[in-house]
Amino acid sequence: MQHSFPVTVKEVRRETPDCVSVSFEIPEELKSLFSFKAGQYLNLIQNVNGEELHRSYSLCVSPNSDEWRVAIKKVEGGRFSTYANQELKAGDSIQLMTPNGKFTSPFEKTQSKYYLLIAAGSGITPVLSILKSILEIETTSQVCLIYGNSSVDQIIFRNQLLNLKNIYPDRLQLNFILSREWVEEECFQGRIDGNKLRAFNNRIFFSSDVDEVFLCGPETMILDCKSTLSDLGISESRIHFELFGTEIQQTPRKVEVVSSGTLAKIRLKTDGRTTEFDLEYNTQSILDAALSRKVNLPFACKGGVCCTCKAKLIEGEVEMTKNYGLEPEEIEAGFILTCQSYPKSSKINVDFDQ
Ligand SMILES: Cc1cc2nc3c(=O)[nH]c(=O)nc-3n(C[C@H](O)[C@H](O)[C@H](O)COP(=O)(O)OP(=O)(O)OC[C@H]3O[C@@H](n4cnc5c(N)ncnc54)[C@H](O)[C@@H]3O)c2cc1C
Ligand code: FES
Repeated sequence: MQHSFPVTVKEVRRETPDCVSVSFEIPEELKSLFSFKAGQYLNLIQNVNGEELHRSYSLCVSPNSDEWRVAIKKVEGGRFSTYANQELKAGDSIQLMTPNGKFTSPFEKTQSKYYLLIAAGSGITPVLSILKSILEIETTSQVCLIYGNSSVDQIIFRNQLLNLKNIYPDRLQLNFILSREWVEEECFQGRIDGNKLRAFNNRIFFSSDVDEVFLCGPETMILDCKSTLSDLGISESRIHFELFGTEIQQTPRKVEVVSSGTLAKIRLKTDGRTTEFDLEYNTQSILDAALSRKVNLPFACKGGVCCTCKAKLIEGEVEMTKNYGLEPEEIEAGFILTCQSYPKSSKINVDFDQ
């Protein structure tokens, strides 16, 4: 099972009126465990107003920087993001899980590629890490970044991006799109969507030249851009995307139970220890049921996105209501997202240690 470690907050830096970046002191002996790939995220665990919150935040620095820094944008009514923007300070202690995530690609010195990076709002966080890695490692690769925000004062990392443009003027093409501020060139006004990408194709980027795309922003933007880019001839396998969340399901879906009776017997193995309990069909996910029985399990988004709650189904049948994270090979190998899994059969055996 993935574990968390207490670390000290090194710096909380205001990036925009609604966003702070937070860096951490990673002790020397943990540095190899905390090594990461560009585009990956950390899970932060903190008790806020008496509630233990688990949240994922993408690293915004290059893996070679010996720095661990995330950026946290305040969400209206958001518990953790408001706490981070208003209360978190240098010297505070926080629990961190080791880096995770598949929003990455092998960036290698020998490659010479053309990358299209598309981000909106806080979606720039993993994209900045990827951008820095490409520019630093692949010395002949080209990058076109399209970055959408409501207004100039909301552009996270604006100065860092302009600075990168100064350092790599021939290899980085920077395009800011603003939705709530007047822009002289009309095409840079509005939101990033499929229509905007069609308008940009053969003008700002050339879809026929694009080797890889990295997309991060709201779900609707990702889905629209993904389908437009594949219409423009970029195959899905070359389009990487990261979702920061999906709508949390309030009522569990009614799964079709294949066994008689009203209860499933759940058996969980975590850190070598086995826990057993009964779970009434169609009430709670396996993760929620275990957490409410005080079983210590890894999780963050509870939305089928981050894969922190991944475990192997050894016995039984479950229905996964959402899956934005597991690859087909992982499903084939029996892995499930426990935050989205509801029992269908009377005996369920799940292993978090595999
Ligand atoms: C893999 C991954 C990486 C992420 N990386 C980052 C990052 O780098 N920077 C960052 O700022 N966030 C990132 N997030 C989102 C982050 O984990 C939290 O979901 C977000 O900060 C809101 O948490 P909260 O506790 O403030 O809000 P909550 O108290 O959980 O939610 C409050 C309300 O806001 C809604 N809400 C939750 N998340 C969002 C959202 N992203 N946009 C709009 N409304 C939302 C909820 O539905 C709810 O109604 C990432 C998420 C994932 C899964
Ligand atoms: S907790 Fe994120 S996918 Fe289950």
